[in-house]
Amino acid sequence: MGEGPDGTPDPVLVAGRAVYADRCSSCHDADGSGTGDGPRLNRGHLLSAYPAAGGAAAVVSGGRGRMPGFGGILTAGEISAVLRYINEVL
Ligand code: HEC
Repeated sequence: MGEGPDGTPDPVLVAGRAVYADRCSSCHDADGSGTGDGPRLNRGHLLSAYPAAGGAAAVVSGGRGRMPGFGGILTAGEISAVLRYINEVL
């Protein structure tokens, strides 16, 4: 888990981990390796697929194909927290 400058866990990453476990891991796997229904997101995969800020957030918010949209379920802050968790921890 990433830590802030004072050595305590970064609260955004802690929140992102909770959202991921709750809403994403069933399809993208607990470690983001995508062995479930959804594709791989971990190990920088997501960042290289969506280098532009907001690109991945648009997919999560609006959904695509068999991926449900989370725009009405998660706040923009929760979506950006879960994307930081995926990019920085998984
Ligand atoms: C019901 C299963 C399911 C759930 C739950 C789910 N996803 Fe997905 N996700 C998918 C599928 C399937 C795709 C591929 C969609 C396509 O391209 O048709 C996908 C694609 C994506 C992509 C695009 C990946 C790429 O390489 O283009 C991102 C980002 C993503 N999901 C993030 C998330 C996040 C974050 C969550 C939790 C908030 C989540 N997903 C929850 C099934 C799911």
